[in-house]
Amino acid sequence: MDFCIIGCGRLGISLSVFLLKQGFVPRAFSSRSPESVELAIRFAGRGKGYENPSDAAKTSPLVFITTPDTLIEPVCEKIALEGGFKSDTVVYHLSGALSSSILSSAKKTGASTGSIHPLQAFAPYVEGQKSPFKGINISIEGDEKAVELGKEIVNALKANSFTIPTHAKTVYHASAVVASNYLVTLEHFALELLKQADLSEENAYEILEPLIMGTLGNIKKRGCMNALTGPVARGDDVIVSRHLSDIDQKLPQFSGLYRLLGQYTLDIAAKRGEISSDAQAKLAALFKF
Ligand SMILES: NC(=O)c1ccc[n+]([C@@H]2O[C@H](COP(=O)([O-])OP(=O)(O)OC[C@H]3O[C@@H](n4cnc5c(N)ncnc54)[C@H](OP(=O)(O)O)[C@@H]3O)[C@@H](O)[C@H]2O)c1
Repeated sequence: MDFCIIGCGRLGISLSVFLLKQGFVPRAFSSRSPESVELAIRFAGRGKGYENPSDAAKTSPLVFITTPDTLIEPVCEKIALEGGFKSDTVVYHLSGALSSSILSSAKKTGASTGSIHPLQAFAPYVEGQKSPFKGINISIEGDEKAVELGKEIVNALKANSFTIPTHAKTVYHASAVVASNYLVTLEHFALELLKQADLSEENAYEILEPLIMGTLGNIKKRGCMNALTGPVARGDDVIVSRHLSDIDQKLPQFSGLYRLLGQYTLDIAAKRGEISSDAQAKLAALFKF
C-alpha cells in the first residue's frame, strides 16, 4: 500500500524506512525544509518530495502527519482545504497526547482518521540501525477503518497493538507520563535522600539499582498490590514517624512529597487488608499535611 509522510523528522523517517521493509511503499514526502525531505528520500530509497503537503497527500491512500503535535491540526486543515484527501484516504498522526479528533477536517472530507502511538522514545534515524518499532507496544485509536488498517501497520512493524477509545486518549497519555517520567522523578527523590548519607549520585544509584530492578520484577510477577513491601505495608508507624522527623528537619522540601506518596501507599496497603485499623489510623495521621 502506498503512503506519504508529512513531516520528515524522527518518526516520519523511521516509519518510512521500516514500513517499506514490510510491503508498504513511501510514495511522497513533504516537510518544512527541503533538506529533511531529501534525507527521508535518501534513507527510504524511494518516493518523491513535494513542497506542498496537499500534493504529497494526493499521491497516497495512506497519510501520516508526523509534524510536532501543535502543527498536526493546522497541517491537516490545510490539506483538507486544498482537497488533498480522498474519501478512501486513511489519515493518521502519531501523537500520544492527542486523539484522532484533531483530524476532524480530514474526516469532514470523507477520509478515515486515527492515531497510532508508539510507546517508545525515538532518536533520529541512523542508516542501518535496528528497528525501533520491533517488539514495542503501540496504541491505536480512531474510526473502524483506521483501527483495522492500524493493526496491519503495527503488525508490519513487528510491534504489538492495542486499541483504546478516542475519549480515553488523554488519560492513556497521562498514564504513560506517570509510568515513565514520574518514575524518574521518584528515583531522583530517592537519590536526593541517599545523598544525605554522603554518597555521590552515581554511587547512590548503583546502591539502589538492584532494589529498583527487583521491585519492577515483583510488579511484573505479582502485580502492584502484592509487590508492596516496607514499613507502610507492615503498618509500622514508628519507622515512618522517624523518616518524617528526619526529612522535616534535613530535607523539608521533600516533606510534602513523602507524605503524599505515603497516603497513596497506605491506600494500597489498606486494600490488601493486612494491617490493623489502629496502624492505618496512626499512619494516616502521620501522612496528614
Ligand atoms: N520522538 C519520539 O520519541 C516520539 C514518540 C512517540 C510519538 N511521537 C510523535 O511523533 C510525532 C513526530 O514527532 P518527532 O519526534 O518525529 O518530531 P521531529 O523529529 O521534530 O519531526 C517533526 C518534523 O516535522 C517537520 N515539520 C515542522 N513543521 C512542519 C510543517 N508545517 N509542515 C510539514 N512538516 C513540518 C519538521 O521539519 P523539518 O523539515 O524542519 O525537519 C520535522 O522534521 C509527534 O506527534 C510526536 O508526538 C514522537
